[in-house]
Amino acid sequence: MRDMNQFSRKKVYEEKQKYPNVIKTRSNEEIEEMIDDLLQKMTLREKIGQMYQMVRGANPFGSKLVERSFEESVKNGDTGITLGIKGWENTFKYQKMAVEESRLGIPLLFNADIIHGCDTIYPVPLGFACSFDMEAVEKAARMAAIEATAAGVHWNNSPMIDVSRDPRWGRCTEGVGEDPYLGQELAKAQIKGYQSNENGKRHYMMACAKHFVAYGASDGGRDYNTVSISERDLRETYLPPFKAAVDEGVDSIMPAFTTYSNTPATANQYLLKNILRDEYDFDGIVLTDYTAVTELIAHGAAKDEEEAARLSIDSTVDVEMVSDCFLNSIESLVVKGQLSVDQIETSVRRVLRAKIKLGLFDNPYFYIDPDLEDKLKLNPQHREIAHELAQKSMVLLKNDPYKGKKILPLDKNIKSIALIGPLVEEKKIEGAWAFVKDRDSIVTLEEGIKNKLSKECKIYKSKGCSADGSDLETAEESIRDAVNEAKKADIILLALGEVKEMSGEAKSYSRIGLPGAQRRLAEEIMKLGKPTALVVFNGRPVILDWYDQNIPAILEAWFPGTEGGNAVASVLFGEYNPSGKLSMSFPYCEGQIPVFYRRLKTGRPHEDKPEDRFRSKYEDVSNHPLYCFGHGLSYTEFQYSEIVLSHQELIKDGSITASIEVTNRGDVKGTETVQLYIRDLHSYGLSRPVKELKSYQQITLNPKEKAKVEFVINEEMVKFYDRNMKYTTEKGVFELYIGTSSDNNQKARFEYV
Ligand code: BGC
Repeated sequence: MRDMNQFSRKKVYEEKQKYPNVIKTRSNEEIEEMIDDLLQKMTLREKIGQMYQMVRGANPFGSKLVERSFEESVKNGDTGITLGIKGWENTFKYQKMAVEESRLGIPLLFNADIIHGCDTIYPVPLGFACSFDMEAVEKAARMAAIEATAAGVHWNNSPMIDVSRDPRWGRCTEGVGEDPYLGQELAKAQIKGYQSNENGKRHYMMACAKHFVAYGASDGGRDYNTVSISERDLRETYLPPFKAAVDEGVDSIMPAFTTYSNTPATANQYLLKNILRDEYDFDGIVLTDYTAVTELIAHGAAKDEEEAARLSIDSTVDVEMVSDCFLNSIESLVVKGQLSVDQIETSVRRVLRAKIKLGLFDNPYFYIDPDLEDKLKLNPQHREIAHELAQKSMVLLKNDPYKGKKILPLDKNIKSIALIGPLVEEKKIEGAWAFVKDRDSIVTLEEGIKNKLSKECKIYKSKGCSADGSDLETAEESIRDAVNEAKKADIILLALGEVKEMSGEAKSYSRIGLPGAQRRLAEEIMKLGKPTALVVFNGRPVILDWYDQNIPAILEAWFPGTEGGNAVASVLFGEYNPSGKLSMSFPYCEGQIPVFYRRLKTGRPHEDKPEDRFRSKYEDVSNHPLYCFGHGLSYTEFQYSEIVLSHQELIKDGSITASIEVTNRGDVKGTETVQLYIRDLHSYGLSRPVKELKSYQQITLNPKEKAKVEFVINEEMVKFYDRNMKYTTEKGVFELYIGTSSDNNQKARFEYV
């Protein structure tokens, strides 16, 4: 076996210097000529190799696949793209192998999952979605691209822009939350951050919008499960972020593992060909998800690998990830006339085009830079970006007065504090899809708090119980210890939540309360009758109803990443006034799921009147979530005036300005996300959502300051899919809501004429 570190840094720089240090600018014709030239030289087998993305080492579904040596495949040209390889030692080694030892020397594309940071980790996507701050999101994505490209990565399997209304689904942590409009904004911001041409493309990282489409609608929140949605749901809810991604110029798209209309997305001509290629005019790479082609057999949609390959390619899939149906069957499919060389070349062209545009034919080592890689990793500016986004992602769920005084923000001059709970010292607070190499780089809650307090402040701490529930039956003694420690302090901070492994792929749960003995711990602590605040670390909305009823202050921290503890501490001590707004509703209980704001009214709407009987409601719980989409408090209070409309009527090609005055009534500076929702009161033959987010603006106001916020209402905002699924407008009356959450708004009406 070869030594991994067979190449020195010096060698990397020597090799790099043999090639130009810039990417050549080429016209489209020049690019196509280069591709024509290459295609002429390539055998069919080599072409198929460009359509295969290979993973090094074992893969969990290996038994079904032919054992292939990764290195042999690189040398034979059997793979043109790798998955999950990053870092100069590896990228340089394999790139050199491809360039020098494969027949045509076509460079490799290095693809990886850089979902919320490369080495410097920012909050999980569902968390950073709560920032509603697209500049901060773009900046963080840019930072991820800078670190990853210096480590040799060219192509990122992000952004994940799946809308989901189901917190049982562990992958909601990676997505955009429940709203399609917010999803569009997040798609654009991340793609802008990754695919930047700045600095001669030095840190350009191809993005991949995933998972196309409606993966987040898996029945019952069970991962990979059937999706049962209508075409209207598809178009109104799940597709908009993908349309925005294509319009933003995303380089690639990954089909979902799931089905739409019983057809797996990987072989779904309606989704991939009709919608993505034809309607959206997408000509980038379609890369399958992990072994999704061979999974067509398990779905029952293909009888064997050959049929699976054919169905996928006929649906315009270009690259197969990990499973090797393409490699094993395209040649025979072409011989039998079941696939044309043209189809294959169309896909190969897309891959070669990407490689040319990235400059890999100019300099295959262009992005690899060992010294820069080390310099950038976790550098102070990057930590600052992660810190900023983590602060902005936190949501103050509740902050009621306790004995006449709000507990948060905490006073830095407190004499003593008890840090209680399993998340106090936890270093694993980066969440799913973050590959932390240096655990010490993560700042825990305890470290963050200590960084803010003077040496004189007495800190008591106790874990109380575990967060994974493993000590459910045995935690009594440790809970007693926690109570004893908590007794000694003036203020108690409870840090509860999930462990990081509880959310992410294949992490569906039917019960999403805080696991194990945490509730018992909280009950005992609350019996002490001391001022107590709760910080929750989690990847998904969790059930917090008991905590909401019993604890006066609750801060949602999500899995905040590298700077987590520092960011929580700046929010707790009021250095940063919380501004996050929920990207996904928090249900009272699992039985309410799905509960989300953008619902239909039904024929028997429940108006919360006691006499309502035969109404659409539960007998035992409200129709509303505990905390709704868009909810998030501040240490100050924002007051909204009534809405003033410039006109009562919206005419074709015209617009209305809706203005509202927002006043900071408190004593501290704060940032508010002013949200605008619209409701179509009546649509011919159709039921329309009770509210749809159409715009928002963030304003920062000093104490007692007020500002006028203006929104332009235009025709695009009243467009919808009519009874015949035509995207159009219809005359009628609309309600307009502007306010602080999806549930708390001022109201006005206008008419589209
Ligand atoms: C996930 C994708 C991911 C891929 C590669 C799959 O299991 O569904 O989101 O990009 O693995 O790691």
